[in-house]
Amino acid sequence: MAQEGAAPEGTILHAKDVSTDALRGRTIAVLGYGNQGRAHALNLRDSGLTVVVGGRAGSEKVELAKREGFEAGTLAEAAARADLAIVALPDQAQPSAWGKWIEDALPAGAVVGFVHGFAIRFGFIAPRADLGVVLVAPKGPGATLRARYEEGLGIPALFAVERENAARTARAVALAWGAGIGCARSGLIEASFAAEAESDLFGEQAVLCGGLLALVHESYALLVEAGYSPEVAYIECCHEVKQVADLLYARGPDGMRRAISDTAEFGAFVAEQALVDEHLRAKLRALLADVRSGAFARRFMDDYGRGHPEFTAWRRAASGHPIEAASARVRALMPWLRDA
Ligand SMILES: NC(=O)c1ccc[n+]([C@@H]2O[C@H](COP(=O)([O-])OP(=O)(O)OC[C@H]3O[C@@H](n4cnc5c(N)ncnc54)[C@H](OP(=O)(O)O)[C@@H]3O)[C@@H](O)[C@H]2O)c1
Repeated sequence: MAQEGAAPEGTILHAKDVSTDALRGRTIAVLGYGNQGRAHALNLRDSGLTVVVGGRAGSEKVELAKREGFEAGTLAEAAARADLAIVALPDQAQPSAWGKWIEDALPAGAVVGFVHGFAIRFGFIAPRADLGVVLVAPKGPGATLRARYEEGLGIPALFAVERENAARTARAVALAWGAGIGCARSGLIEASFAAEAESDLFGEQAVLCGGLLALVHESYALLVEAGYSPEVAYIECCHEVKQVADLLYARGPDGMRRAISDTAEFGAFVAEQALVDEHLRAKLRALLADVRSGAFARRFMDDYGRGHPEFTAWRRAASGHPIEAASARVRALMPWLRDA
């Protein structure tokens, strides 16, 4: 049964604690049929719930949704039928789509659901007062969300209730959504929009995408400059990340350390002590401060509003980095990676 009332942040709910009842006989509009939207739509339908799909005019993804058996139309058409509208559009596209097509179409008292807290936390969307506002953020890409569901499993998700609707159904609807996509089979972790948005942005900047690539690029360049072949430098500084990431994912830091050689483990302690200092801590604090102040979100959205000049220049420069040629040569040694 869905629980009533807010629980403290960090509370973890499981399949026995929640049900899809609050969405039975209701209509879920999945707005956007991309990485996340498709997985949510398919999982919710396979959980016996009614799903319609919406997208922008001329969207190829809407045509895919139709081929995959959904009733699909424009964002406004889908939103107009929603008891729960799941906004699964790119973060930067959400504010204008919301203003142009979604907000006015939503029925009074509906619940609007986000997959990432960005637009609400940083104030780019301020939903109408009658709408419930909730978040279910699966901690993984859509393909994984779908694959685990099909195996009878689930991936963890954060959930949050920003605001109840007049009927006070928003929390039960959020939990039913989390159950319907299979995440309650793993765990639904109570959070807030702020906690989800800030920790997600910081994690991808400091570690997962930014920090990791900074170390990869700098270490690769140093080895090549020191006379090692680009292929060897690439294998050591990038290719082998997967082996370690798989161990970290499955076993955690201590389990990873136990699985590697003593030489590697001893060297890891030496390197961590050498790399971590007050400069690194200050830089990490600055990244978090930029996220929490909204400065990062404003910079991203301002750039998007101007046609992404900064983003496009960075992408072009990064794609031309010499590591890419070494990457192509090493990956060509493993034909199975072509389909990955
Ligand atoms: N990707 C992930 O692994 C991941 C993980 C967790 C949370 N999230 C969150 O999930 C949400 C959706 O992200 P996503 O990665 O699933 O998005 P996505 O795959 O890039 O695109 C989602 C959909 O939006 C449509 N779309 C693209 N640009 C649009 C625009 N300007 N106006 C209207 N529709 C547009 C696309 O279809 P058409 O181009 O055919 O119109 C597609 O159906 C975001 O809040 C994101 O932060 C993503």
